[in-house]
Amino acid sequence: MTHPQLVLSGMQPTNTLHLGNYLGALKNWVRMQNEMPCLFCVVDMHALTQDSGYGKAGDVRRATREVTAAYIAAGVDPERTPVFAQSMVAEHAELSWIFNCVARLGWLDRMTQFKEKSGKHKERASVGLYTYPVLMAADILVYKATHVPVGEDQKQHLELARDIAQKFNNDFAVPDFFPLPEPVITGPATRVMSLRDGLKKMSKTDESDNSRINLTDSADAIAQKIRKAKTDPHPLPSETKGFEGRPEAENLVNIYAALSDSTAEKVLAEYGGQQFSAFKNALADLTVARIAPIADAMRRLLADEAEIDRILRAGAERCRALAAPVMAEVKRVVGFVT
Ligand code: TRP
Repeated sequence: MTHPQLVLSGMQPTNTLHLGNYLGALKNWVRMQNEMPCLFCVVDMHALTQDSGYGKAGDVRRATREVTAAYIAAGVDPERTPVFAQSMVAEHAELSWIFNCVARLGWLDRMTQFKEKSGKHKERASVGLYTYPVLMAADILVYKATHVPVGEDQKQHLELARDIAQKFNNDFAVPDFFPLPEPVITGPATRVMSLRDGLKKMSKTDESDNSRINLTDSADAIAQKIRKAKTDPHPLPSETKGFEGRPEAENLVNIYAALSDSTAEKVLAEYGGQQFSAFKNALADLTVARIAPIADAMRRLLADEAEIDRILRAGAERCRALAAPVMAEVKRVVGFVT
């Protein structure tokens, strides 16, 4: 049996979104909604797994609305594609418990993101941070989603989701009950790097605001940050192999390529041999042209919280209708009296 194609993805509501989230994720989501049915979730339950969200009700709520506004401002059409918060569809949590009993400790022990996020004091990390990838598997499989656009850093979590799906299908003798979801990793700039250090990922937690372009930055701020971006004294190379040892040059060219739906090779065919100053002017104009309208749309949407909440509730209602029959079947399969 083949499962109908369905895309599911989500982002955590933590702080403001930046250019990396747009080029690495949102831009692809917008394209994918024209190709397959999609569901886009704001994973607010995941936000409680770390100090940045835990105990900060106001921050989580505000960030959930902000991320929702960013999805829509970037071009996700909530009429076509349900946009919702994870906590609004209780089936995610319900299935996640069952999956906690399917997944093995040894599997979770191998998750590199837990090791990174828990740092030196593993014993002080929340249990939620540890089982984070199990909830992520439930987010996907509660809809039997088949395709999951994610960044490189989430590939291991997706493999875990496949392992959980496979083990559930085997252990409960329901071959093909859950699909084995595929990661979709696309675009030349899935890894947008910091504007201050070409070896570090652009991040919402970097202490320097000049390291990132926030989706809420004004046109002036965007242009300034691009002009101040770290570079080296040499002109741009004429081929991509000239990026060797020049991560900042590579990053800016990749950003240009992604924003203009082009490739690094084509960008270098145009700008190779030129000084950074000229290229940065062009990049600043392009970034402002692409990002400033998103920032404006976000501001307009955020001015009407009630409308955002209405969109989330409507999306959640459609998702509950999809998740409820799957969950009912899961309960029957595992042996709960229903
Ligand atoms: N872990 C993902 C991230 O940090 C967010 C996420 C949670 C997610 N559940 C998901 C992504 C389901 C895709 C599908 O980026």
